[in-house]
Amino acid sequence: MISDSDFEVLKVKINQILGIDLGYYKPQQMQRRLSGHLTRLHLDAREFCGLIGNDPEAARELREFITINVSEFFRDPAQFDVLKSVALPEILESSGQAKVWSAGCSHGGEPYSVAILLNELAPGKNHLVWATDIDRQILRRAQAGGPYAETDVRAMEKRLLLKYFDKKGSEFWAKDELLRMVKFKELNLLSDRFSIGLDLIICRNVVIYFSDDAKRALNERFFSSLKPGGFLFVGGTEALLGADDIGFTRVQSSLYQKAKQAAAMRAA
Ligand SMILES: C[S@@+](CC[C@H](N)C(=O)[O-])C[C@H]1O[C@@H](n2cnc3c(N)ncnc32)[C@H](O)[C@@H]1O
Repeated sequence: MISDSDFEVLKVKINQILGIDLGYYKPQQMQRRLSGHLTRLHLDAREFCGLIGNDPEAARELREFITINVSEFFRDPAQFDVLKSVALPEILESSGQAKVWSAGCSHGGEPYSVAILLNELAPGKNHLVWATDIDRQILRRAQAGGPYAETDVRAMEKRLLLKYFDKKGSEFWAKDELLRMVKFKELNLLSDRFSIGLDLIICRNVVIYFSDDAKRALNERFFSSLKPGGFLFVGGTEALLGADDIGFTRVQSSLYQKAKQAAAMRAA
């Protein structure tokens, strides 16, 4: 296990090289994970700092290790059903054209899934689906719409798979129609500015390693970014910290809603 002082040195170096502030992450968990990473590379902390300072490939691997890009289309289908039957109809009824943000979108499975749902429920409305991630490399794959493996798309209805994807050998690629529905951008949730006036924010399986303070601050910022009545969709095991205090009501399962009168209440 790396010592506390080595961990502090690594934190500074990693912030310099990757722009990721590990102060926002759960310290013991991160220290343990980094120790494992260094052990696998057979390096001590000083050698590792030298390596990531000089070798972009090692820095890229470290970024991947810290951020973890695992994702899937319609991940946890039962939760997507709640989104489809509860949140999206309400949004479409009140806004017509939905404004959605997938925060921590990885390879694009999540924002493309919600874009497909919107297009199926209310076609031709030019819904706005923004998708962001801290990891530039994974965003390139998301923007290209593939390649996706069979396991990435296994939860998708066959009908939708045929409609929105081309199959090339064993790979699946999003068709142009689907590519046009999502706009991707690099964004660090811990330091960058957020858009406002959103109907739905999806942030699932991203904050697991963040400290409680960082999670709470992020949820407050999400709240400010949503319209009154807007929804926040989180991961299955990620009950929202301080939801009531912030002003969110738990609607169902992983779905939270900002009070419809929130703007008036805050102004009062
Ligand atoms: C496990 S994936 C989750 C992907 C998708 N939301 C899902 O549930 O399938 C976590 C993603 O969060 C991104 N991420 C981690 N820390 C981040 C940060 N500070 N700002 C933005 N994205 C971050 C990672 O790069 C990764 O792609």
